[in-house]
Amino acid sequence: MKDNIVTIDGPSASGKGTLARNISKYLGFEILDSGLLYRVYAYLYNCGVEHSQITKTINQDITFMSDDNGIVVLKEKNNITDELRKESTAKAASKISAIPETRENLLLLQRGFYTPKGLVADGRDMGTVVFPNAKLKIFLNASPEIRAKRRQLELQNRGQEVNMLALIEDIKQRDLKDKTRKLSPLIPAEDSIVIDSSEMTPAEVLSFTKKLTKKEFNK
Ligand code: C5P
Repeated sequence: MKDNIVTIDGPSASGKGTLARNISKYLGFEILDSGLLYRVYAYLYNCGVEHSQITKTINQDITFMSDDNGIVVLKEKNNITDELRKESTAKAASKISAIPETRENLLLLQRGFYTPKGLVADGRDMGTVVFPNAKLKIFLNASPEIRAKRRQLELQNRGQEVNMLALIEDIKQRDLKDKTRKLSPLIPAEDSIVIDSSEMTPAEVLSFTKKLTKKEFNK
């Protein structure tokens, strides 16, 4: 029996987060943004927390909440969401995510998000490593230029300055690192359905995905 899980993997800014939010609402499933966990991990590590203490610190001091703009992250009472969403934190997350201890520490934490009600999990290795038994696996892709444009909009909406050329370069570098690392590289699971969202609106990606969930979950 397969698990009641939709995994959405793909490179940065391919639309995973938007699709995950929309489809989890539609299905009434819980949501896991694993990239955000890697960002929290990098943030805590840069604050001086050792690898061996990070899971405990996440469980004790970090709160994930939802609002209209997505997930809000608190460290004790401080809102650290904007810091986590910076490209510098993304780079730090990409670097630390290649260390075996990081991935081991986050594996159980990520699996702990599963409840029988169902889960939508987005990231890089959700379908290949973390939830290999998921019922529906999607790999969402888009061209680097389109993804850079989407990330530019997202960062501008958060009031952050963006240099487009530097952003495209950052995204390409980060993808290359994610695809070529030894552990859990960014590759589509063999049983995944690949969607190229370059020419699609979020609504079109959602409507295509709903056809897939109808088949797998009868919803
Ligand atoms: O998805 P997001 O851009 O927030 O992820 C930040 C970084 O965390 C990625 O570039 C990747 O290196 C790492 N990551 C990962 N495995 C995941 C999710 C994110 O290695 N499942």
